[in-house]
Amino acid sequence: MPDKQAPHAVDAEFYRSADSFFAAHQSLALTFDDVTLATLYSEVLPRDTQLDIVLADGLHLNIPILSADMDTVTESRMAIAMALNGGLGLIHYNMPEREQLSEVSRVKNHIHGLIQEPVKVAPDQLIGEVLDMIEKRKFTFGTFPVVDDAGKLVGLLPGHVVKHRYAKRKVAEALTPRAQVHTIREKELGATPIARADKFFTDHPGIHKLLVVDNADHLRGLFTMSDVERITQERSAQFKPARDSHFRLICGAAVSATRNAFGDLDRERILNHVGGLVERGVDVVAVSTAHGHTKGVGDTARMLRDAFPKLPLIAGNVTSAAGVEFLAACGANVVKVGQGPGSICTTRIVAGVGIPQLTALYVTSRAALKKHVTLIADGGIVKSGDIVKALTLAHAVICGGLFAGCPEAPGQIMEIGGKMYKQYRGMGSLAAMKTGSAARYGHTTNATQKVAPEGIEALKEVSASADKVLTQLVGGIQSGMGYLGAPNLTQLRQKARFIRVSSAGEREAAPHDVVEVKTEG
Ligand code: XMP
Repeated sequence: MPDKQAPHAVDAEFYRSADSFFAAHQSLALTFDDVTLATLYSEVLPRDTQLDIVLADGLHLNIPILSADMDTVTESRMAIAMALNGGLGLIHYNMPEREQLSEVSRVKNHIHGLIQEPVKVAPDQLIGEVLDMIEKRKFTFGTFPVVDDAGKLVGLLPGHVVKHRYAKRKVAEALTPRAQVHTIREKELGATPIARADKFFTDHPGIHKLLVVDNADHLRGLFTMSDVERITQERSAQFKPARDSHFRLICGAAVSATRNAFGDLDRERILNHVGGLVERGVDVVAVSTAHGHTKGVGDTARMLRDAFPKLPLIAGNVTSAAGVEFLAACGANVVKVGQGPGSICTTRIVAGVGIPQLTALYVTSRAALKKHVTLIADGGIVKSGDIVKALTLAHAVICGGLFAGCPEAPGQIMEIGGKMYKQYRGMGSLAAMKTGSAARYGHTTNATQKVAPEGIEALKEVSASADKVLTQLVGGIQSGMGYLGAPNLTQLRQKARFIRVSSAGEREAAPHDVVEVKTEG
């Protein structure tokens, strides 16, 4: 019987390993759509594939996907959604430093299922005002904790009294008084708060809300039975949340190589801020700039490595082997690759610089192997197939545009011509640089009027939740791994075989010569 695993001589002539394929295309820069992957003998079912990846000591993800450190993509809400799905969010730095600290704290303190900042009402409000608030803010719930000016719990306003017939009554007249409200002290939640809340709801038939208070009876949160039930059912999900050793969700934060008024690296400020991030439990810091193969980024990485020897450190961006070796020598564990592939980037147009992403990934991956650092493919990913191709050379991917339309991304929804949109802008766009990201592009904030932006301001159509987007992406990655017979990401990197695609081949790859019919799912 022939060996099913051995490459067939004819296949090997056409479908090449990364080394052989990219060596044969040395003078041509390629990106995702320029290539396709060949299938291989497989005994691997997509659903059985493992997507976990150790990016650095102490930085373990259950899926190889990060959300971009951009001010229209990742703040605490997105970072929580990413970690709950097994990935990682990098909180952007286009905000005051103390705000970034709070954003990290929000992720690290997040207790899944516990609404930490429930909508509250005051005892002297009118029921009519509560109804107006529900209408205005489009709430789908009608039960609210009642607190006094000091934040102490006074009672619970049940949904069945929030009715127009009681509009003229005060909340104080209609509430369920404190003594009859079911509460639990924060300290009693222990290491498994959801299990604790689940038991409470089982022990108290008919009660659907459990309020969390501190020792002084200040309201600290709210569990609802429906949330707890949903989470308990999700326990069997294949991809577990990404957590640290204290069972907290993991969270990353981006920092820049900030300079002082004299143009020197502001060492004290960077060290103080990263010290604050570490105190709040940040799992990884990313020195995130458009050009990582520079003295400023190298000095920043080296300084952080010396000050925080155990902190996982991402640095970038680069597109050369020398860039990877440089950042590895400066102490980075993980290197971000990508210059100009992003959906809102104009670096290649403005500066004439940058490398199509797949060639950049191949070149950098050779240095990464030698230097024992991991790589993240950053930018240009628009579909799950791009992720599979990126993961044949890199260890994880960063997506911006794919998440910018999610409700978890910062920013208001706007309606244009009957469609709903959210803002998505490059961190090198003029508007973003004015808000603070100029350092990322090597400019000072007050000079932004004079510089050429390297990104655009755009809109993304509002998309499904991050959960749903990730489910689709992960499903696609697993399919790709099934076709290549790769049970895990290491084998995907080893097994991948590439071939160039003609433009007719690219057209053939997408639906063609049909009228697409959409089924709501
Ligand atoms: P996607 O394609 O996922 O790309 O939307 C997100 C990545 O793009 C990079 N980025 C920029 N690159 N000018 C650039 O040249 C910009 O203004 C800009 N803003 C973000 C960044 O690496 C991000 O993760």
